Amino acid sequence: MAKRIMITDTILRDAHQSQAATRMRFDDMEPVLPLLDDIGYYSLEGWGGATFDTCLRFLDEDPWDRLRGLKKYLKKTPIQMLLRGQNLLGYRHYADDVVERFVDKSIENGVGVIRVFDALNDPRNLEASMKAIKKYGAGGRCVCEATISYTTSPVHTTEYFVKLAKQLEDMGADNICIKDMANLLLPFTAYDLVKGLKSSLKPETLVHLHTHNTSGTGDMINLLAIEAGVDIVDCALSPLGNGTSNPATEPLVASLAGTEYDTGIDINKLLPLVRHFDKVAARLEKEGSLNPKVRKIDINTLLYQVPGGMLSNLMSQLKQAGQEDKLGECLAEVPVVRRDCGYPPLVTPSSQIVGTQAVWNVLFGRYKTITSQFKDLMLGKYGQLMGEVNGDVLALCTKDGSKVITHRPADDLSPEMESLTKEVKDKGFYQKEEDVLSYALFPEVSENFFKWRKAKEDKVDAGMNAGVYPV
Ligand code: CO
Repeated sequence: MAKRIMITDTILRDAHQSQAATRMRFDDMEPVLPLLDDIGYYSLEGWGGATFDTCLRFLDEDPWDRLRGLKKYLKKTPIQMLLRGQNLLGYRHYADDVVERFVDKSIENGVGVIRVFDALNDPRNLEASMKAIKKYGAGGRCVCEATISYTTSPVHTTEYFVKLAKQLEDMGADNICIKDMANLLLPFTAYDLVKGLKSSLKPETLVHLHTHNTSGTGDMINLLAIEAGVDIVDCALSPLGNGTSNPATEPLVASLAGTEYDTGIDINKLLPLVRHFDKVAARLEKEGSLNPKVRKIDINTLLYQVPGGMLSNLMSQLKQAGQEDKLGECLAEVPVVRRDCGYPPLVTPSSQIVGTQAVWNVLFGRYKTITSQFKDLMLGKYGQLMGEVNGDVLALCTKDGSKVITHRPADDLSPEMESLTKEVKDKGFYQKEEDVLSYALFPEVSENFFKWRKAKEDKVDAGMNAGVYPV
């Protein structure tokens, strides 16, 4: 039976986050939004991830305005966003009331698919956001796409991932995403995983694959996943596709055309989009936000299981310490640290936590000094660790009387919305509830942005821009 494969294009989010430090502006998108809307994609990923932070911090754009701007043109194609569960679009756990308000406002302003993930794959960290997506996205307003953060280790078997996916389905997920952010998934493993998911999940639950082409395996992964029955795959138009980004859209559309998996997309309609984003990519390169090196195949991910972004962090930490020759030792230490803390997937924030501890182990002696984040990770404050942790290392973390927590980390947080709203109002920045949410996630960055916005509105200082303020 013919099975049409659906494509999500990430050109408006992951493509430029992976290749160009998330620096694409709304102005770069606006002229071609009607064309993008007309292609017949399953969805267009265009919000969330790092775009929110970058809009406020570097681009003098209100991320909420960007979302409304996208919605103005994207009338047929759902706007997809990436949400970090209880961390929303920031870097810590937020209270449940902030999570609920954030999800409500995201949907109200136009998001139609929310992909929600947790770095540790702890379903409790997805509870609050998934509940809110179901509540505010009811009646087909917004798809709840829950995510498996893919990684490899002795405990991360296909059976484990299938069980996790079923748990997420029971919590209300409409779709299950396999998020292979580090491009660790290999084609034949992808085949088995998709087969396992499709045979265990309800027939109406769609399986959506997200991989990258960092190590050059992305197109093969997509193709074997398609043979195994995947429903949707993520691609990025070629000007910002491949390399550290997602596999390019056009080759897949061409490969499937006329087969039982035909995407229904007319490749000729993609050409004006390719021409447009070629120009955008050239400008980003000229500005220095896109280094053409990111388009090259780099198999370090496969050799060391270290994602690209983490490798550059390790190198810069060692450079600061004047110990660049220790990179090999650090790379060898990463798997040791990861094993000792129960094999977390390496994605923000666990990648930074494990990477820094590995560097400290090499520079100062193994666990002679433990970072506070690593201690919190070991104590369960980021969520439950999947594998067994090293008892000796845990003993070092609890010797000051600290206790391991077994409850949901966000249960320790009191409601924050009321006090944050008061703070934003007292400072004179309140225009809409969304401002409070921006401020909740990035207080300093938002305050600088609000000052710039006010100056622009009052025409107090025409030459003023957000860059004037320390960021
Ligand atoms: Co990605």
